[in-house]
Amino acid sequence: MRFADGVSALDLNSGLWNVPLGYRNARVGEAVMAAMTVGSYGGVFRRSSVAAEEVAERLVHLWPRGTYGKVLFATSGSAANDAVIKLSRLHRRRLGRSDRPVVVSFEGSYHGQTLGAMGLSGEDLLQGEMLTAPHEFVKVPVDDSDRVRQILDSHGTRISAVFIEPLQGTGTRPMDDAVLQEIFEARRRHGFLVIADEVATGFGRTGVMFRSARWRESADLVVLSKALTNGTQAASAILVGSEVADVFAAQGAIFPHGETQAGSLWACAAMNAVLDEFEERFGMVTADAQLPETRSMEQFLDKVSAPSMGLQVRGEGMFYTITGTEDFDGLAVGERLRSAGLVVHAGLHSIQLAPPFVLSHQQWADAAETLKEELHRVCADG
Ligand SMILES: Cc1ncc(COP(=O)(O)O)c(C=O)c1O
Repeated sequence: MRFADGVSALDLNSGLWNVPLGYRNARVGEAVMAAMTVGSYGGVFRRSSVAAEEVAERLVHLWPRGTYGKVLFATSGSAANDAVIKLSRLHRRRLGRSDRPVVVSFEGSYHGQTLGAMGLSGEDLLQGEMLTAPHEFVKVPVDDSDRVRQILDSHGTRISAVFIEPLQGTGTRPMDDAVLQEIFEARRRHGFLVIADEVATGFGRTGVMFRSARWRESADLVVLSKALTNGTQAASAILVGSEVADVFAAQGAIFPHGETQAGSLWACAAMNAVLDEFEERFGMVTADAQLPETRSMEQFLDKVSAPSMGLQVRGEGMFYTITGTEDFDGLAVGERLRSAGLVVHAGLHSIQLAPPFVLSHQQWADAAETLKEELHRVCADG
């Protein structure tokens, strides 16, 4: 990246975690440009398209046969999560439940900015001042499986869906296995839908193509965005479980959700090119495939040796947070790093790393040296 003040820096945040294949990915760029010459618009409102069906089939075929049966398109992670809230409520209705539903999500989570997605988010986004029905959004703790069971059982069949980030983007906290297990067991008791919000984690960010593909049981719906088009298009996709789709199909019921630009020709061209890249460059042809590049990330973290400076490192795959004590000024560290040639995502007392998957050996080595030096300086200066 080149900034207006003349600083040039390597982006270790991959844009907003959405450009894992690099800013100048030729395949994605050329595919989008070629689609632009075909026509200025082609969407999927009240219909499908050849381009959208091709992408949908490719996404579904990454998973074990029969796991996901339909794909819906939207234009952002937020819009997709709102669509999923609506879908989960209609699903409940189709199963004959008509009392007021609630949706469940985690403390500290982030699901987006639109009204529903903001309601889901556990981070403080001033929900208290803007939500008119806050009681419809129930939060559970990330690390207390007993409490999660109690809360889920107290709402029982009123729950339409539980939204899970397989690894919370904020703080790169991996999902607790015991909590996940409670959610699956509660799903059997109460019949709600489990949603994997893979907007940030999808396409290799945690070191696996899709992190929820390694769960013991499948999510009913999976939400994808960000890397889906390598950051080139406002696009998202929702994989709908075959059983969920069957409930609607059996009753001839529709799910009304249509966004003008969803599933556009340009977005589909970008999605196809991204899938080609993951297949050909990294050999990732299944939802649970391992990203080979995680080895470089591990070596990079070893070289930086943040723990020896008293810094905590947490995360998975290609997604890590380095946290310091109260006096670690993450924003100042972020600015120092930018001047030294590295872009990171700065928090109050932490910095976050979500590097692209296409760095050269030299870029990894230089980045490790710069980061180590700067962290060392900051820790030594106090
Ligand atoms: C897990 C998760 N869900 C949803 C969103 C919202 O996506 P968008 O910014 O495309 O609306 C984000 C964005 O960071 C996210 O990380």
